[in-house]
Amino acid sequence: MTHIFLYGPPGAGKSTLGNLLARNLNLPFVDLDRVVEENAGVTIQNIMEQRGETAFRDLETAALKNVLHQSPSVIALGGGALLRDENRALAESQGRVILLMAELDTLLQRLQNDSNERPLLAGGLRDKLKSLLEKRGAHYRSFPLIIYVDGKTPEQNAYRAQVALGRHRLSAMGEYDVIVGPVASLPRANLIVTDENVAKFHLEKIQSFLNVQPVILPAGEEHKNLETISALWKAFLQNGLDRKSAVIALGGGVVTDMVGFAAATYMRGMDWIAMPTTLLGMADAALGGKTGFDLPEGKNLIGAFHPPKLVWADPQFLSTLPERELVSGMAEAVKHGIISDPELFDLCARGLDWTKENIETVVKRAMAVKIKIIEEDPYEKGFRAALNLGHTVGHAVELVSGFRLRHGEAVAIGMTVEAQYAERIGVAKPSTAERIRQTLEALDLPAQIPRQMPREKIVQAMRMDKKKNARTIRFALPVEIGKVELVDVTDAEEVVGVR
Ligand SMILES: NC(=O)c1ccc[n+]([C@@H]2O[C@H](COP(=O)([O-])OP(=O)(O)OC[C@H]3O[C@@H](n4cnc5c(N)ncnc54)[C@H](O)[C@@H]3O)[C@@H](O)[C@H]2O)c1
Repeated sequence: MTHIFLYGPPGAGKSTLGNLLARNLNLPFVDLDRVVEENAGVTIQNIMEQRGETAFRDLETAALKNVLHQSPSVIALGGGALLRDENRALAESQGRVILLMAELDTLLQRLQNDSNERPLLAGGLRDKLKSLLEKRGAHYRSFPLIIYVDGKTPEQNAYRAQVALGRHRLSAMGEYDVIVGPVASLPRANLIVTDENVAKFHLEKIQSFLNVQPVILPAGEEHKNLETISALWKAFLQNGLDRKSAVIALGGGVVTDMVGFAAATYMRGMDWIAMPTTLLGMADAALGGKTGFDLPEGKNLIGAFHPPKLVWADPQFLSTLPERELVSGMAEAVKHGIISDPELFDLCARGLDWTKENIETVVKRAMAVKIKIIEEDPYEKGFRAALNLGHTVGHAVELVSGFRLRHGEAVAIGMTVEAQYAERIGVAKPSTAERIRQTLEALDLPAQIPRQMPREKIVQAMRMDKKKNARTIRFALPVEIGKVELVDVTDAEEVVGVR
């Protein structure tokens, strides 16, 4: 965890947003100008008038160095605090800088309503501010993470900042941080569990941060069973783990589901940390506290809600993921775009090459959608079911294919079929299905049921799915890109076009 710095011109909302961000992320908030004043025992205006700007900047640098020693915090900086190369280097090496920017009129309006003294802007506010923006324009624009705050509420901007940073704190089921970014220092843990494929590429790096014993599982869904769970319990025992221990799950959804379950049940519950290494794991499986394993009779039949203590998603893990797995995971990202993030959907529509090059953005946005939903409805009493978009038909198609289709490929087919149905019954706006189909195809995902696959078997499989009752099936159907609705359907045949 690192500091978060808020920077930008006067009036951009650094303090307001800083307070909100700190509250959302459960971090301390520091206003550097106030620290300077406290240290000096006089106001900044006073320092400027009596000792000049250089003396003020010296005090500012000293204050910055001091706060950097504190635990990770949200720090609002003065509007020129990073003009000094030394300060900028300090901030950028010890945290992430978010540059808040707004139109001149927005800044003016806010400053006119603000009672804080701003010595550099005293007298002729508009002209002074305009010239300050001109002078510092190139400097402000040189920061890689810029949020334009105009027309949005502070709450909306705080959320946008969190998505861009990849930092969230969840509290609806358990309380834990979600971090997207390069792995840095990890909290204490007693064991790392991973699978044989992930171990080859990433175990050494994780062990360089945390030198603990690994348990390496065989890879694949066919090992997501009681035998592996039992092997995990035994490994926990052999390594002397108790209820106060913690275990890291480093891997795809199979590893995180199983480690989460084994941790839920070992000595009535032990902590675990999720480090997802697949796109599906990041966008979906590692978030939300659902853990479990398969029985020969069906997938995920045994499980428990047991949220992790931390989710750390490092997009660099995805560089070693086989292409088909990555593409399959993209289906979940598209799904999250359709549910509530049209911008994410449009980014996905740029195709596979673009998304591969910008995978961190895709991961951050896709995770943010799931986080918002599970925070509102952690135990799937209502809207969490929206996450089933494409899954009712998708699961059935996956099953009928004899699992030759990857989960995401089947979900892609499911999303198109369900969207076409939604249009036929007037739930979805015209052309929604076509947009979905085009986006999936741009990502090399299939978008229609294979010709030879018997439709009746799909309908049968849909009715058998454990989450549905026999007569009606609850579908999450798209209304438009960015909006879905839960609809009870009795005529499953009509969905897949059997009649
Ligand atoms: N708990 C939930 O809410 C939830 C949600 C969705 C899916 N799931 C579960 O997730 C599972 C599917 O997850 P998955 O698609 O991640 O499958 P997976 O864990 O089997 O991983 C897919 C393959 O990629 C390999 N792999 C993983 N990361 C790699 C990396 N960085 N580099 C190279 N190879 C890598 C794995 O060894 C495996 O062979 C299913 O069991 C599903 O039930 C759970």
